[in-house]
Amino acid sequence: MAVLEIRKYPDEVLKKKALPVDNIDKDLQRLIDNMIETMYAAPGIGLAAPQVGVSKRLIVIDVSTKEEKHPLIVLINPEIIEADGFIDSEEGCLSVPGYTSTIKRAGRVVVKGLDRNGKPVQIEGTGLFARALQHEIDHLDGVLFVDRMSSIKREFFKKRYLKKTSVSSQQSAVRSQ
Ligand code: NI
Repeated sequence: MAVLEIRKYPDEVLKKKALPVDNIDKDLQRLIDNMIETMYAAPGIGLAAPQVGVSKRLIVIDVSTKEEKHPLIVLINPEIIEADGFIDSEEGCLSVPGYTSTIKRAGRVVVKGLDRNGKPVQIEGTGLFARALQHEIDHLDGVLFVDRMSSIKREFFKKRYLKKTSVSSQQSAVRSQ
């Protein structure tokens, strides 16, 4: 396994719509293992393949904390089939280091896709897990959390971020994905 380089905004691969995975082979298994290792090494609570430069519809998520264990999720070709309620919480992204913002998301989602062996699965998520699913699936459509901010906030972000000045509160305890 290997820790892969995480692509950072404004890398072009982060803006592309990723292609469906159509072949679950050894290379894909290696990519999944490397993405898991990269997510834990960052550390982050989720990672999408475009973030490591691979424009394919594949995500990994683990929202565990020391106190609370959650399963490691690997989803191929994930698709949101139900979304309701909303949460308004602070988000960060491994591809936009040092920056967080409050983003409105559905409070509950149901996602269907394939597990790493190609078996169809359906997963329901609420709270932080629901947010993580939406954030990672956004990556597959070339959407970053900064694209979901108000246009005024986004312009401010772009100016500051591209100048490499710190734009976030350094005390933020938000876990990126
Ligand atoms: Ni992200």
